Amino acid sequence: MTGTRSLHNLALIGFMGTGKSCVGRVAADVLHFTFLDTDHVIEARAGKSISDIFAQDGEPAFRQWERRVVEELTRRKRTVIATGGGLPADETNLASLKTHALVICLWASPETIWERVQGHNHRPLLNEADPPGKIRELLAAREPFYRQADVLVNTGMRSVREVAQHVVHQFHMAQTAHR
Ligand code: S3P
Repeated sequence: MTGTRSLHNLALIGFMGTGKSCVGRVAADVLHFTFLDTDHVIEARAGKSISDIFAQDGEPAFRQWERRVVEELTRRKRTVIATGGGLPADETNLASLKTHALVICLWASPETIWERVQGHNHRPLLNEADPPGKIRELLAAREPFYRQADVLVNTGMRSVREVAQHVVHQFHMAQTAHR
């Protein structure tokens, strides 16, 4: 990370099942920041679940919602933002997050992700005949975006609390470096 950056917020990006929401809640608590989950904002605005948005309006409509919410985030301060897994797979969204937040990517292997998400049916992109295959395919396509994060954190063998502590530490270090 180079140059002067405004680090008002902390944004967590990463694939489904990497723990963005759980880690984000703990990190927000420790930092005394507000916690915001982009999927929840979209569901509240749309008045329906993510699954219903995908089923009734289609994925492009959902991505449009994401872009709108990302624009609004530029006005936030002292917020830990957990993003939907596909949100940073869009250069404009990623660039926008970087104007106001330290962007940390939570990483896990496709096998770990599958272990964590199986049995949950609220993720329309994984309602497929071969969810592990879909995870590998999507993760490979998105990896170049996730790797553009300021910090990459492997969540594989760590508890939510450990990852959150690491994330908070990285945030403090980045703030000191950019003061
Ligand atoms: C998506 C991830 C989901 C949600 C939607 C699409 C994706 O969020 O935004 O189902 O494209 O990876 P989580 O990463 O919080 O599961």
